[in-house]
Amino acid sequence: MSAPVAIVTGGAGGMGMAIATVLLGDGFRVALFDRHGAKEAAGQLSGDVLGVAADVTDEDQVRAAIEQVSRTWGRVDALVNNAGIEPAHSLESLEPDTWQATLEVNLTGPALMIKHCIPLWRGQGGGRVVSLGSRVWLGGGWTPAYSASKAGLVGLTRVACRELGPLGVTVNVVAPSFVHTPFNAQKADPEFLEDYAGRFAEASPLGRLVEPVDVAYAVAFLVSDRARNITGEVIHVAAGSQLAPAIR
Ligand SMILES: NC(=O)c1ccc[n+]([C@@H]2O[C@H](COP(=O)([O-])OP(=O)(O)OC[C@H]3O[C@@H](n4cnc5c(N)ncnc54)[C@H](O)[C@@H]3O)[C@@H](O)[C@H]2O)c1
Repeated sequence: MSAPVAIVTGGAGGMGMAIATVLLGDGFRVALFDRHGAKEAAGQLSGDVLGVAADVTDEDQVRAAIEQVSRTWGRVDALVNNAGIEPAHSLESLEPDTWQATLEVNLTGPALMIKHCIPLWRGQGGGRVVSLGSRVWLGGGWTPAYSASKAGLVGLTRVACRELGPLGVTVNVVAPSFVHTPFNAQKADPEFLEDYAGRFAEASPLGRLVEPVDVAYAVAFLVSDRARNITGEVIHVAAGSQLAPAIR
């Protein structure tokens, strides 16, 4: 059989690049979808990599991008819904645009990606979906739209695993805690982030922070044949900090 194919959305970001690197090492051909810098990011990786400019909130772009992968490699074995945003806000300061934008990227995007991969999975007899959640789905965080979107992603996963199970598709969530990537720069300045990261390490029974590669290893396991009977599940990659109260 030819090498399996993975799509990683938000592929140009911190976690996306780590996931792509590990999947390439596991023998996947990888398509990086991103609304910014997909081709440049693909150029930084070696192996069979495709950079595709695509905004996951735009159904036409999603359809066209998946068609491009299908034309190039003829299949999609693993879909990694990794694109995500977390604009700073509280409920009191909430603007409807912030709510809408967060839900569109973090929840509508994964639903559209799954929808347009289904014909391929039906034709090839199965596939894998792993979506990037967050520990906040469980204990809540401090950005309401973000926490709601990540809790919604678990709901989407549980319904998708029922609808897609008969097609041989597993659907799971990997839920990290704080990880140093460009993601957190949208929330606060570097000094605050250093303190914040320290509080996460203290809240971990292991006393340490999660790194992008830890998240990538969990994704790689869930898309592998070893995880063929795991579906509808949430795996926290949080060094145990998912057990701590919300961290501020
Ligand atoms: N970094 C953390 O602390 C952390 C913790 C828990 C969960 N997560 C989740 O992990 C995932 C990846 O986060 P990261 O840390 O790599 O962030 P990042 O900001 O480094 O990367 C996110 C990528 O998503 C892309 N993106 C955003 N909106 C998009 C859209 N509409 N269409 C296509 N691409 C889009 C961005 O351009 C960026 O390249 C996210 O879903 C995030 O919620 C991150």
